[in-house]
Amino acid sequence: MKDEINKIKEEAMGEIKTLNNMEELEELRIKFLGKKGKLTKVLRGMGKLSNDERPVIGQMANEVRRDIEKEINNTRKRLKREIQKKKLEKERIDISIPGKNFILGHRHPLVKTIEELENIFMNMGFSVVYGPEVETVENNFDELNSPENHPSRDLTDTFYITEDILLRTHTSPVQIRVMKENKPPLRIVSAGRTFRFDDVDDTHSPMFHQLEGLVVDENITMANLKETIDTFIKELFGEDMKTRFRPHYFPFTEPSAEVDVSCFNCKGKGCEECNGTGWSMELLGCGMVNPKVLKNCGIDPDKYSGFAFGLGIDRIAMVKYGIDNIRLLFENDMRFLEQF
Ligand code: PHE
Repeated sequence: MKDEINKIKEEAMGEIKTLNNMEELEELRIKFLGKKGKLTKVLRGMGKLSNDERPVIGQMANEVRRDIEKEINNTRKRLKREIQKKKLEKERIDISIPGKNFILGHRHPLVKTIEELENIFMNMGFSVVYGPEVETVENNFDELNSPENHPSRDLTDTFYITEDILLRTHTSPVQIRVMKENKPPLRIVSAGRTFRFDDVDDTHSPMFHQLEGLVVDENITMANLKETIDTFIKELFGEDMKTRFRPHYFPFTEPSAEVDVSCFNCKGKGCEECNGTGWSMELLGCGMVNPKVLKNCGIDPDKYSGFAFGLGIDRIAMVKYGIDNIRLLFENDMRFLEQF
């Protein structure tokens, strides 16, 4: 029996050295000292011993039990230390490592251009309003006095969603919305996306941006229109820029004009870019609001008159930022956008 007890002790002490975690330690405790453990089992056989042997073996067994318990406690402490050490190593913070770089975004050149345009007009007393990109045929064409046979109404020119709903081909339907919902005096600009069935090239895209302007009040004349456009162009491109109004036709304005401005490159002297004319062509369309359109929106054309204009924002952004290809504005290549 003595041998058996000694063997158990040796076995326990040997195994305990190889342990790596708390679970294994607990298993070992149960295996040797638990109710059904090895030592307990041996002690159960003590009844067979003689009266002399019993206290000797009992004492010995108790000592072994204490030894094993002591070793288990020591091992528990050792494991605790080791686990903590590993954890500390793993979670160590190296304050010498460079920090993570935050990529700070910034505004797209088109958005910057829109904000600049809106600011100029706000300073001139205009309000900024918004209109939907999905419009009714009524607002986009009918109310704007565009005849049934107007080419821009064609299926090959315009993205129709249903027969009556389309992607707006210009920002002019915002005029209709504003005039129907408000009473003069009106002074608004509205920027946003517009859509036409254009093939993509360096200056064309089926999705592009326009800014619409509308003024309606008593006694508004062509002189107010010219002064407003001229002031705007000078604010945007500089005092030395000139404007030129050429007669044109739009169904919703009468009379109508297209506006050219001094060549951005030579400022009017004449260079290769402007074919020696000194003018940049067709920067915007404008005119006096057709009385029929006023009437369509419930505004008395005998009392009120107004002017409207529409300009291409993408072209202005390209001139402002020296971008020679409209595609660059929509591809969203970070290498391009980071330059602005
Ligand atoms: N909507 C016209 C276009 O897209 C521009 C325009 C707006 C002309 C307002 C006159 C008045 O070409």
